Amino acid sequence: MKKDRKVVLVGTGFVGMSMAYSFLTSGGVDELVLIDVDKEKALGETMDLQHGLPFARNKIVIKTGGYEECSDAEIVVITAGTAQRPGQSRLDMTAVNANIMKGITENIMASGFDGILVVASNPVDLMTYVAWHVSGLPKNRVIGSGTILDTARLRYLMSEYLGISTNNIHAYIMGEHGDSSFVPWTHAYVGSKCLLELLDEKSKDLNDLNEIYHQVQQAAYEIINRKKSTYYGIGLALNRLVQTILNDEHAILTVSAYQEGEYGWHDMFIGVPAIIGHNGVEEIIKLPLNEVDQGKFDHSASTLKEVQESTIK
Ligand code: 2OP
Repeated sequence: MKKDRKVVLVGTGFVGMSMAYSFLTSGGVDELVLIDVDKEKALGETMDLQHGLPFARNKIVIKTGGYEECSDAEIVVITAGTAQRPGQSRLDMTAVNANIMKGITENIMASGFDGILVVASNPVDLMTYVAWHVSGLPKNRVIGSGTILDTARLRYLMSEYLGISTNNIHAYIMGEHGDSSFVPWTHAYVGSKCLLELLDEKSKDLNDLNEIYHQVQQAAYEIINRKKSTYYGIGLALNRLVQTILNDEHAILTVSAYQEGEYGWHDMFIGVPAIIGHNGVEEIIKLPLNEVDQGKFDHSASTLKEVQESTIK
């Protein structure tokens, strides 16, 4: 029997703990279990969070546990894996993290887990594929954090550029959560106005958009060079994904979702806009991409597919 609003976190590094910490301020989770290969670290993190509970938005049962805790969880979030070092791309970590992901997923499934698996470990599109493949769960119940964070970075930068709230920026980063991602600009809206029309009216330069995308693409490298890792942004993005599932919001998020030809590709995970609810990926939104953007999608998908076939199949 699944327990409502029970979330298990596998991996108590900076990313996982940023999400965990954010649950105390956002509320919305009733039970949180922390699992880590380093049991003392998981225990220390648990104690630290517990001591913040008097200031939390709602009561949360927070504890350390083993994989048997996954048996009645609604969601298991995996953030474990080796971290990206300065100069490394996300794809450089494929082989080592695929092994870690395989072992973790086997342990989760051995508990009888029957909920939704959320993967954030990098390279996230490929690690989500490994988790899906090993778990045997239906495709809609395995979700990668995909380009949720990239899309948030884009909306933030566009909001600064246009002087309009992020809430009214509807634009997506699609493709790999990595170097080959792209923005289908013709599908970007500000409120209900087409972005390209708005720029034209305001005599703004289209090159500014490419510079904004470049900043998004380089964001993780820029942060890692300065502070070794990124975690607040992704932690909040994971919180948003978890709450969207728990609350059956049917909100559109750019997650890494299993492909069955929606954009011409099969048997892989990649970042696409999708409706997220209680069943995980309820539906992938099929944007009618123009030729240039479909070319960018194909480039991104083939980049992932090559590594998938050479390194993890
Ligand atoms: C990020 O984009 C490194 O994937 C991580 O912040």
